[in-house]
Amino acid sequence: MNTRVALSLTLALFFLCGADAATITFNNKCSYTVWPGTLTGDQKPQLSKTGFELASGASTTVNVPSPWSGRFWGRTGCSSSSGKFTCATADCGSGQVACNGKGAVPPATLIELTVASNKGKDYYDVSNVDGFNVPMSIAPQGGSGQCKKSSCPANINNVCPAELQVKSGGKVVACKSACLAFNKPEYCCTGTHNTADKCPPTSYSQFFEKQCPDAYSYAFDDKNSSFTCSAWPNYTITFCPAP
Ligand SMILES: *[C@@H]1O[C@H](CO)[C@@H](O)[C@H](O)[C@H]1NC(C)=O
Ligand SMILES: *[C@@H]1O[C@H](CO)[C@@H](O)[C@H](O)[C@H]1NC(C)=O
Repeated sequence: MNTRVALSLTLALFFLCGADAATITFNNKCSYTVWPGTLTGDQKPQLSKTGFELASGASTTVNVPSPWSGRFWGRTGCSSSSGKFTCATADCGSGQVACNGKGAVPPATLIELTVASNKGKDYYDVSNVDGFNVPMSIAPQGGSGQCKKSSCPANINNVCPAELQVKSGGKVVACKSACLAFNKPEYCCTGTHNTADKCPPTSYSQFFEKQCPDAYSYAFDDKNSSFTCSAWPNYTITFCPAP
């Protein structure tokens, strides 16, 4: 086979199989181990890694195809007992380190990412809509457009109101959203409160907004919590980012 034929075949295979659009690098800057979880939305196949261990100081990469839409979070306080893997926060209920298509049980800090097709505009955000468990940030590398880092570096557990606290071993390990804690339409923006004008911020959503202004504090947060970047950047997701 001459090199030109070989090159054409390689290129054909590359396009037929669908190219990986973005490399996501997970960095753990926390002083403790975090077990990241990944969940692909829209009933699409899951990524090659749906859950893994990330020791303090470690990093791991995961490739994401285009288009893609899904979320990332970090589980804390995990252990295996009698063959079953469980976590104190953001457990996915799979019983294993891999989440296998299962999402985080709230409260959990979430990073939501939509990778566009054809190098269009990606959307990403940090969300405290389902509460908070670990500080997280997402930063694009390369790409074009705004491409700003979005970060929730505050450890909200340390200042969480008593009625929202989740404790483990006497320590606050996560902070519920008001929707999760009280399940009321005015906090969840459901029922007669299901539009932005009928679901204004509450003292609870303002608490999250004040701690992490970049992040979504409730379902109809101000639109400055959604970030964009075009032309297929890569992304770095950091647990316990520097303020
Ligand atoms: C993304 O990462 C891949 C693999 O490391 C690299 O080949 C590619 O050039 C990077 N893209 C950008 C936009 O930096
Ligand atoms: C978003 O808007 C809120 C309220 O206007 C403000 O406090 C916050 O700093 C803004 N965040 C960013 C990232 O601009």
